[in-house]
Amino acid sequence: MKAVRFVALIAGLLLSVQAFASQFVINHQFGQTAPTQADVLVVFAHQGQPVTVAGWSAEAQQLLNDALQANEFTGKHGERVDVLAPAGVAAKRIIVVGLGEADQLTRVKAELAGANLVGVLPQERAVTLVTTAVNDANAVAAIAHGMDLKNYRFDNYKSQAKARQQVTYQWHVADSAAVQQHYADYVAIAKGVFLARDITNLPGGDGYPQAIAEMAAKALKPYGIKVTILKPNQVRKAGMGALYGVSQGSEHKAYLLAAQWEGSKDQPIALVGKGNTFDTGGYNLKTSSASIVRMQTDKAGGAAVLGSVMALAAQKAPVNVVAVVPLSHNLISGTALLPGDVVTAGDGTTIEVANTDAEGRLILADGIWYARDKFKPRAIADIATLTGSKVGALGNVYAAVFSDQDDILASMKQAGEATQELVWELPLGPYPGIISSNLADIKNTGSPGAQAGAIFLQHFAKDTPWIHIDMAGNAFSESPRGIHPAGANGYGVRLLTEWVKLYSAQAN
Ligand code: BES
Ligand code: MN
Ligand code: ZN
Repeated sequence: MKAVRFVALIAGLLLSVQAFASQFVINHQFGQTAPTQADVLVVFAHQGQPVTVAGWSAEAQQLLNDALQANEFTGKHGERVDVLAPAGVAAKRIIVVGLGEADQLTRVKAELAGANLVGVLPQERAVTLVTTAVNDANAVAAIAHGMDLKNYRFDNYKSQAKARQQVTYQWHVADSAAVQQHYADYVAIAKGVFLARDITNLPGGDGYPQAIAEMAAKALKPYGIKVTILKPNQVRKAGMGALYGVSQGSEHKAYLLAAQWEGSKDQPIALVGKGNTFDTGGYNLKTSSASIVRMQTDKAGGAAVLGSVMALAAQKAPVNVVAVVPLSHNLISGTALLPGDVVTAGDGTTIEVANTDAEGRLILADGIWYARDKFKPRAIADIATLTGSKVGALGNVYAAVFSDQDDILASMKQAGEATQELVWELPLGPYPGIISSNLADIKNTGSPGAQAGAIFLQHFAKDTPWIHIDMAGNAFSESPRGIHPAGANGYGVRLLTEWVKLYSAQAN
C-alpha cells in the first residue's frame, strides 16, 4: 500500500489532505489512477449515461450494466444500487450512486449524494470512489464535503463516547488537482459549520457568555483572525445598556466578541449574530417546557457569524469581514430586568423593555451600534433566532429576510439558493408606530412580531446598508436532515460565507 502511494505521489497524481481536526473522520485522497484493489467500489453515475469503470473488461462492464438494468437503476439523483462485483474485477461489492443529469448537478445535490452514503459504507473496509463520469470537479469535492458535514457528532456529554475511527477513502477522479483545490475550500466551510454546531449545541449551563467568548477566541486566532473581547464592565462602560441589561440577572454577565478577517483592504462587511446563550424569557418567563427547552440554541446566530468568519479566513478569501457577537444570558433573579424597565443603548436610544423575552433585539441593538461605531462597515447583515412569529409565518426551513436594499436582498437570495439555506423576504412596512413607546424612545415589542423585531433593529442600523435574517427554528433538529446529523446544523455559515463573497465582488 505504502509503495503504491509513493509511486502515485511521484507521478504527481495523488494529493491528500491530512491532520484534520477530529470531526473529519474521512481522509479523502483524490487521485487520477484507477484503483488497484478495493473491498467496496462506489461508482457515481449520471442519468442517461451507461456506467463505465476504468480498467474493467468490456464483459465486466456489460455485466454491471445488466445488473443495474435488472434493478431498474436509471441514474436519477438519490438512486442507489448495491451489487456483487462481477468476477475478475478488483473489488467485492459495487455501490452505484445516481447523481441525476450532468447539467443539473448542483453543489447541494452533490453534497446530499455524499451525505446519503454516510452509514452505508462499511467501516474497516477499503473504499474506492469512482467519479470519472463527473466532469465538474467542484461537484466531486462537494460529494466529499457532504460526507464530512454528515459525519459530525456532538458527543462531549456521552460517558461512553466512542473514539471516532479514522478512515481513508481513495477517490478516482478526472482531475485531481482541481478536485483538491475545491475540496480545500469546502474543508474551510466544514470547519466553520462545525464551530457553529459546537457553539450552538453547548448547553446553557456550560456555554455562558464568557465561556463562548473564550472558546471562540481560541478557535479563531489560529486562522489569523483578529479577536477583541469586551468584558462585562467594558460593555457597561461603553454604554451598551441594552446588551448589559439582558444578563444583569445572571451570575454570567454580558460579553461582546468581535472577530475580523482582513483578507482585503476594502471597507469591512459586518455580520452581527445574536449570542443569547440561554433564553428563559426573563421575568416574562417561558412557562411551557416546550418553549424553554433547547433555548441554549438561542446563540445560533452568533455561532453562524463566527463560523462564517472562520470559513472565510481558512479559505484566505479576499474579503474584509467582521463578526460581532453580543453575548447574554437571559436569566431571572433579584437583579434581573423587570418588564417596563428602561435601558439606554450605546447610541443613546432609550428602550422600554415591554417584554423581557424580546431580549434578542436588545443585545443586537448594541451589537449593531458597536459594529457601526468601531468598524464603519459598508454593509451589515444581522442574523438571529429572533421571533416565534417568524416560525409561524415561514416554518423552520426558510429564514425570513428584511431589508430596504435591493442589491443585498438579491445577493442574499442568490446565496440562499446556492447553499439551500433558503431565505424569504418579509416587508419592513409600512407599519406606522409599530415600536412607539409612551415611556421611552421606542419599545421592544410590536405586532406583527417578526416585523417589529426587524424594524426595531433597522433603527440601530441607521443609514448603513443592512439586512436582517430571522433564523428562529432553523438552527436545530432532533433528527438528521439531509446533509446534517441530529442536533445543531450550523445554519447560516454556508449562507453567509457565500453571501459575503457575492456581495464583496459586487460592491467592488
Ligand atoms: N429566542 C426567542 C425566539 C425563538 C422562539 C427562537 C422559538 C427559536 C424558537 C426570542 O428571544 C423570543 O423569545 N421572542 C419572543 C418575542 C416576543 C416576546 C415579543 C417571541 O417570539 O415569542
Ligand atoms: Mn426571548
Ligand atoms: Zn431569544
